[in-house]
Parts: sequence; structure tokens; C-alpha cells
Amino acid sequence: MWQVYYFDVSDLASSWSIRYAMSQTPWDLGEAHTELVARLTSDPSLGLGTPGRVLVPGCGSGHDAEAFANHGWEVTALDFAPSARGLVEEKLGGHGTFVLGDLFEYRPDEPFDLVFDHTCFCAVDRDRRMAYGQAAARWVKPGGRLISVVFPMGKPVEHGGPPHAMSTDDLRVALGERFALVEDVEADCSGRRWQTQWAVFDRV
Ligand SMILES: C[S@@+](CC[C@H](N)C(=O)[O-])C[C@H]1O[C@@H](n2cnc3c(N)ncnc32)[C@H](O)[C@@H]1O
Repeated sequence: MWQVYYFDVSDLASSWSIRYAMSQTPWDLGEAHTELVARLTSDPSLGLGTPGRVLVPGCGSGHDAEAFANHGWEVTALDFAPSARGLVEEKLGGHGTFVLGDLFEYRPDEPFDLVFDHTCFCAVDRDRRMAYGQAAARWVKPGGRLISVVFPMGKPVEHGGPPHAMSTDDLRVALGERFALVEDVEADCSGRRWQTQWAVFDRV
């Protein structure tokens, strides 16, 4: 049977949403990022002592959010693509919350212990990166962390995006003095073309 979707693709959220609705999501690994799974398996708290509250901005279909939920985290998964909602809620099965909204507008009642960014920073326009840094400072409580799967490293800027070229230093600049870089190591690229780093920033 034909299914008909109505989207205003001139709207950014709708243009992402239609990709989920049509299953045209080449960025989707079909599972949580391998580096995240390995680290959660060896230390479910990811260095914070105990699993707490995590925000996954630009969560897409929710694989990473599901991995956090399976390791005892209280998950908030955020995306502005309406079609992502069903995919995420099915995976979370009530063990977490999906928030439909624009990350730049998102103001949680209470800041999080951890923000996990996996191909969200590289999905936003380059001229909005400083605004992303300001938003991240609102999301993470002092003493908390932001972990980023930094991708795509080494992609020429002129190739455009998304995914837009990204380095750990790009993220460090956007986050500013509110965060301190405490780890920056090469990570498994999960079959993707460009190099990937695992970067950890502590909220000061
Ligand atoms: C490349 S996808 C990555 C999805 C997921 N993290 C993954 O790795 O499979 C980027 C995601 O960010 C979302 N996104 C982009 N800009 C956003 C914004 N301003 N607010 C909320 N979500 C946004 C898109 O809808 C999309 O689901």
C-alpha cells in the first residue's frame, strides 16, 4: 500500500524528518556507536562515578540513547525531526524521554550530568556553532561532561555538508572557557569514510 507523507521541505526540521520517514538515512549506523558501546561496557558511568541523566541531542533514530538506557542512564533524547519520535520511543520502551524540538531553543528544567553528541554538531550550520556552545553550557551542570564523537575529521570544508567538516578544536572553540578538554583520542570510525575522534570535555 502507498503511504503519503506531507512535509514542508523548505523547513530544516522537515527536510530531516522526511529522510527518516523514507528510511534514507545513510548516517545511521543501525546500532549504537562502537566506541560508546565499548566504553559503556567497561564503565557504565563513563567516568562520572555512577550513571546519571544524559541528554542525546540530534538523537536521530535513537541507537545511542537506547545504549545509555540499557546501562542505567536516565535518558533524554532530543531531535527536531517528527519522524524520529516513533523510532526512538520504540527503542527506549519507556526507559527514557523523547523531546521533539530545536536544540537551540531547548532549555531543560535541570541541567544534565552528561551530553552525548554523535554527528549532531557536524549537522548544524557552521555559522551556528557558537550558539551550539552556548546551548551546551546550559545543558551540562558544573562538574558534568560533554562527550563528542568528532566526525568528519579531515573532510575539506569546501565539500560542505551536512556532515560539515569538524575537528576537536572546532568544538573546543565553540564550547569556550566553560568547558575543559580532558580526553581526545582516535576512535573506531564505524566504517565511515572520515577519521573519528572521541573527545571528552568537563564542564567547569
Ligand atoms: C546526521 S543525523 C545524526 C543522528 C544520530 N545522532 C546518529 O548518529 O545516527 C543529525 C540529527 O540531528 C538532528 N538535528 C539537526 N539539527 C537539529 C536541531 N537544530 N535541533 C534538533 N535536532 C537537530 C537531525 O534531525 C538528525 O536527526
